[in-house]
Order: sequence, then C-alpha cells, then structure tokens
Amino acid sequence: MAFEVSIAMSMASLLLVLSCGTAMVGPGSSANFDELFRPSWALDHFIYQGDLLELKLDNHSGAGFESKSKYLFGKVTAQIKLVEGDSAGTVTAFYMSSDGPAHNEFDFEFLGNVTGEPYLLQTNVYVNGVGNREERLNLWFDPTKGFHSYSILWNQRQVLFLVDETPIRVHTNLEHKGIPFPKDQAMGVYSSIWNADDWATQGGRVKTDWSHAPFIASYKAFEIDACECPVPTAAVDNVKRCSSSWGKQYWWDKPSLSELTLHQTHQLLWVRAKHLVYDYCTDTARFVVTPVECDNHRR
Ligand SMILES: *[C@@H]1O[C@H](CO)[C@@H](O)[C@H](O)[C@H]1NC(C)=O
Ligand SMILES: *[C@@H]1O[C@H](CO)[C@@H](O)[C@H](O)[C@H]1NC(C)=O
Repeated sequence: MAFEVSIAMSMASLLLVLSCGTAMVGPGSSANFDELFRPSWALDHFIYQGDLLELKLDNHSGAGFESKSKYLFGKVTAQIKLVEGDSAGTVTAFYMSSDGPAHNEFDFEFLGNVTGEPYLLQTNVYVNGVGNREERLNLWFDPTKGFHSYSILWNQRQVLFLVDETPIRVHTNLEHKGIPFPKDQAMGVYSSIWNADDWATQGGRVKTDWSHAPFIASYKAFEIDACECPVPTAAVDNVKRCSSSWGKQYWWDKPSLSELTLHQTHQLLWVRAKHLVYDYCTDTARFVVTPVECDNHRR
C-alpha cells in the first residue's frame, strides 16, 4: 500500500496529476458519479437522485457514461440494480475498453428478459481488437431486486470478473504460451443501456415492449482503485509507470493476487457448475478449432 496516493477526484486535482498515479477511491470510500464519470450520450436520459444515478431507455434513446480518466491495472466496481419487471430486449453494459482498432475490452453485459424470467450476465474479453469470448451465466440472486457489486480486477497476471466479490470468470495471462494478454493499453470505464432486441433476449425472439418503457438501470457507490493515466500519455510511459517493476509495488501486483486463491477457485467452480449456461470454449459448432486459451481454463 506504500505507494498509493489518495486523490480526491476533483477537477483541480485531476489537472495536477501530470502522469500516471494511483487514483485511490478504495473500499469504504466510494465516489459519486461526477467525481469519476461524465455522461457520454443522451444527457436527458440521466436521472440523479442523491447518491443514486439512473439511466433510462425509452423509444427515443438509451444512455451511456464514461470515466473522465483512463486506467492501466487496478480494480473498478459499480453497484448496479438492473431493470425491474419486463426488461426483454434491453442490454445494460458495464465495461472497460481502450481505444482504437486493436483495442482491449472487458465486458459485463446484462441481458434483460420478460417479467419473471432470469436476466443473463454475459462477459466477454477482447484482446487486440478480437472478442468472441462470450460466457453467459444466470445469477444466484435476482439482480433487479437490489444493488449488487460488479467488479473487474486487472493486473499483469489475470483479469478477474467478480460479482459481490465472487469470481465468475478469470482470464489468465498465458503469454508464456505465446498468447497475447491485454497489458499495455490504458482503458476507460463505461456503462450504457440500449435496445438490443435483435439478439439479447432468448436469442432475439422476444422484442422490446415499448409500452413498458422507460427501462431504468440504477447505479451507486462507484469505486476505482487503479493506476490513472491522464491523456495524452504515450502507451510506453503508461506501462512503465503502472508496472510494479521499478521499486514500487501496486497492491494489485501482490503475489497473492497473481492467481485465484484456493477459496476463489472453489467459488469459481461452484459458479461454473451451477450457473454457467454458455461458454465459448465448449461451443464446437462455432469454433472448429478450440480457441487457444481454452485449454487452460479452470473448470
Ligand atoms: C414513444 O412512446 C410513447 C409512449 O408509449 C408514445 O406516445 C410515442 O408515440 C412513442 N414515440 C415513438 C417515436 O415511437
Ligand atoms: C430468459 O428466460 C428464458 C426462459 O427462462 C431463458 O431461457 C433465457 O436464458 C433467459 N435470458 C435471456 C437473456 O434470454
């Protein structure tokens, strides 16, 4: 923890941060929306209610927001409550992404459903512009009834997707096998809600029922505890500053976070056994040749 600098994320302090530093809005110190994010489209579809933010989807528009900064490694969390009742056809996403054609991306995508049927949580990982790594699971709770935390923990060794701190997916660094791992592009943090009734619900068979609009996703308690990279900074400088290699250690590079703990391994096995409904790694109809990283997936 020695090298973390606590930064109150006001505009003034943002301007003072001249290079990558640790933006510390850690456990117990969640931030309000405005400190870390700004709307990226459809400002009139944002509803602010104290510490709560609501994004609205109706037949005119969805809405989305983005982080003010980019980050390289760390942990990003939002508490989200998904669309109640009929959410068929809608998708709410919370994700990290870098820019450009060879971008990297880590996605949580919540696929809505008709009233009483379960939401699906789809995750995906893009490396150098290529995705197609979808996994889908149903959750062990109703994500429309209350707030739950959704986190991405990213370090040099793995990308971990967590739901209420339970790992649901791990994307492991397998560079020693010649498989590229996302670790040199700073990423923004994003969320949006939109109409995706061509594919989202029951394979696109169920369409959005606009008479049930507006569809509302709610957010609170944002936490970003990550290495912040103000733009413009050359990628190579970001990598240098956000790596633990030159006499400083970021907490996410602790050896204990380089792989799952035994407890987390058990949790992940439980999630996969009880809740996984789709895994690209086992989709032999889609992939004639099993994707290279799949051999190493923990089951
Ligand atoms: C959108 O929905 C509202 C309320 O159901 C309806 O009055 C309006 O005509 C719709 N607008 C469009 C562009 O479909
Ligand atoms: C919606 O409900 C159906 C029926 O229970 C289920 O098969 C499907 O996986 C659910 N989720 C989505 C996003 O279609």
